[in-house]
Amino acid sequence: MSLSFEGRVVLVTGAGGGLGREYALAFAERGASVIVNDLGTDTKGGGKSSAAADKVVEEIRAKGGKAVANYDSVEDGEKLIQTALDAFGRIDVVVNNAGILRDRSFARTSDLDWDLIQRIHLRGSFLVTRAAWNHMKNQKFGRIIMTASAAGIYGNFGQANYSAAKLGMLGLANTLAIEGRKYNVHCNTIAPVAGSRLTETVMPPDLVASLKPEYVAPLVLWLCHEQCQENGGLFEVGAGWIGKLRWERSQGQIVRKKNKSMTPEAVRDQWDKICDFTDATKPATVQESLQSMVSVLSRMESEDQVGANSTAAAASPASASGINPSMAVGQKLPPTTFSFTHTQCILYALGVGMSTKDPDHLRFLYEGSPDFSCLPTFGVIPSQAAMMEGGLSSVPGLNIDFTQVLHGEQYLELYKPLPTSGKLTSEATIADVLDKGSGAVILLDVHTYSGGELVCYNQFSVFVVGAGGFGGKRTSEKAKASVPPPKRAPDAVVIDSTTRDQAALYRLSGDWNPLHIDPSFAAMGGFKAPILHGLCSFGFAARHVLKQFANNDPSRFKAIKVRFVKPVMPGQSLQTEMWKEGNRIHIQCKVKETDAVVLAGAYVDLHGASEASPENLTQGGGLQSELVFAEIGRRIKDLGSELVKKVNAVFGWEITKDGKTAAQWTIDLKNGSGSLHKGPYSGKADVTFTVSDEDFMEVVQGKVNPQKAFFSGKLKVRGNIMLSQKLEVILKDYAKL
Ligand code: NAI
Repeated sequence: MSLSFEGRVVLVTGAGGGLGREYALAFAERGASVIVNDLGTDTKGGGKSSAAADKVVEEIRAKGGKAVANYDSVEDGEKLIQTALDAFGRIDVVVNNAGILRDRSFARTSDLDWDLIQRIHLRGSFLVTRAAWNHMKNQKFGRIIMTASAAGIYGNFGQANYSAAKLGMLGLANTLAIEGRKYNVHCNTIAPVAGSRLTETVMPPDLVASLKPEYVAPLVLWLCHEQCQENGGLFEVGAGWIGKLRWERSQGQIVRKKNKSMTPEAVRDQWDKICDFTDATKPATVQESLQSMVSVLSRMESEDQVGANSTAAAASPASASGINPSMAVGQKLPPTTFSFTHTQCILYALGVGMSTKDPDHLRFLYEGSPDFSCLPTFGVIPSQAAMMEGGLSSVPGLNIDFTQVLHGEQYLELYKPLPTSGKLTSEATIADVLDKGSGAVILLDVHTYSGGELVCYNQFSVFVVGAGGFGGKRTSEKAKASVPPPKRAPDAVVIDSTTRDQAALYRLSGDWNPLHIDPSFAAMGGFKAPILHGLCSFGFAARHVLKQFANNDPSRFKAIKVRFVKPVMPGQSLQTEMWKEGNRIHIQCKVKETDAVVLAGAYVDLHGASEASPENLTQGGGLQSELVFAEIGRRIKDLGSELVKKVNAVFGWEITKDGKTAAQWTIDLKNGSGSLHKGPYSGKADVTFTVSDEDFMEVVQGKVNPQKAFFSGKLKVRGNIMLSQKLEVILKDYAKL
């Protein structure tokens, strides 16, 4: 499908010539209404004329396009946006392109040379973009382009003023990309090369003629299209070629010693290492950038215990074993995407032993079932791509022998029932690295999103045989711990046989390790025959619990944890023993034929049957807001103490339906570790909100902003109104409920 801009309103600054003109023509040709802005100056910013903009508007109209001219300087940002609103009623795209040059060697750069360049490029882009910003935010769509330059990225003789302004625009774009993200307002930066009046003085004429602006415009159009999800990117573009840039950072070197002052001599002595780009990292956020520095602090703290005496890295036994936690922890693996349809859900269900023999398995095996669902433990499948694709081997500080890697433990938590088709994106982070003596344990946290919304969280615990002894810590507060079962006979036992081809079937869900199919590969690993995937037994055990204690209702499933103890051979029978303790079902899985425990310390957490699950509520026709409160309740359970510290207030809610109070809720983030209950607060709530069920949903989903709801009288607030700002902590991320 071709990319259309029908219905979109696009402002291109400096569109009277060169690149800007080309963008304006291209947008108009694809249906956009275009504001052709140009002050009509000479290349140094002198003079003024309406001719340049008028000519381009005429060109567009002659071809049947929609355009109006604006002759203001970008320093009058508001006026440019006003022209868009007056002529077309909205603003969707801003291409900051206007520019001039005042090249001088640095020593000869006057105040005016400096100021004019900053004013037109950097300040002008700021003013125009700020004027458009709230319109874009409110309509939940906006695309912004900043025009930087190779001179800014690399420096260029005689362009100190211009380089500074151009890279300033990149800094501006970096932050706008972050602030705009949740409103679907994206900002990207281009560094173009094209023949124009700006370049004709520095390039030979044939180059000016062949580097056509039309080789740049398609990138700008793509970045500004609603289909494009790129945000915060920097691109070089010219001659029909486009490339993306990012920052790279050397592994670096710690140059200070604990309890000693840091010296310039130590910096000098480590200079080569500081500047060595071998195994460079690519931090993409301030958080990533800081994280590694903060981990230096904790590493230096623990140095005493390992008796380091020279520079930290040199002294660390880690360098010998190839594991260096301070480098590895916090590293992100490249994100992975996973697209699936009902086929994968069904294949997975068969892979973990579901069968049409059992009539209530049909809801997982037949896409035509009225309640067709995906098994909850399918949640491990999209997330494992990060591991399967060898992501771990690219992590600096994890130089390990991959033939020695065992899957030790697994934790999976769902935040909502899994969809039966769609596209999921997973982001994996090294959460921690532990030293168990005989080996190292790598904790890999993987968050999986569907359209920006968190669907599930996995923690892979990977044991690397022989990689221990690097002097790291043994335990981590980040680890999801296994829990032994109660010391009584199990409340329920289910026995289920795997088939000879169980592993051959399970692997089709995406775990292609030959260990599970290839006899000679299995023999190299010391096994008599290919073994069943640990995650396959995990799937068996989870569905036994789901059937036994949750009537096969996937929305009751919350989380599962298992520790893999021994392998299972395809064809053996699995015996799942279960103990119910409230909403937690402890499990232990054995091979029936040998009585060997294969899954230990395991449990499944269920949502209580009466607990509000999104499905029950929507089907039950209750208030829509109940959904949100149910979710808030879950979050308070998980994070209560932290929220109490942050918020320290009691919020009362009165939800109305058809003008009458239909429900009352209390969110107590002041007492104990926080709580949610239905009904009014026994004491005096710090602030009480009254809002209709519909308006509540609009606000929570971000369709109406709370201030607007307040000023229009839809949201009534009693008590300490300032506290409503803290609601953000509990309400954010519920936007897409
Ligand atoms: P150009 O000179 O053909 O176009 C710039 C336009 O901006 C002119 O029509 C000018 O009248 C207008 N303008 C100047 N001051 C203005 C103001 N205060 N308000 C409104 N309009 C104003 O130049 P070209 O080459 O098309 O450049 C476009 C952008 O691309 C500039 O920001 C330039 O710095 C940047 N760029 C261009 C490169 C190239 O190879 N052509 C290389 C790197 C960056």
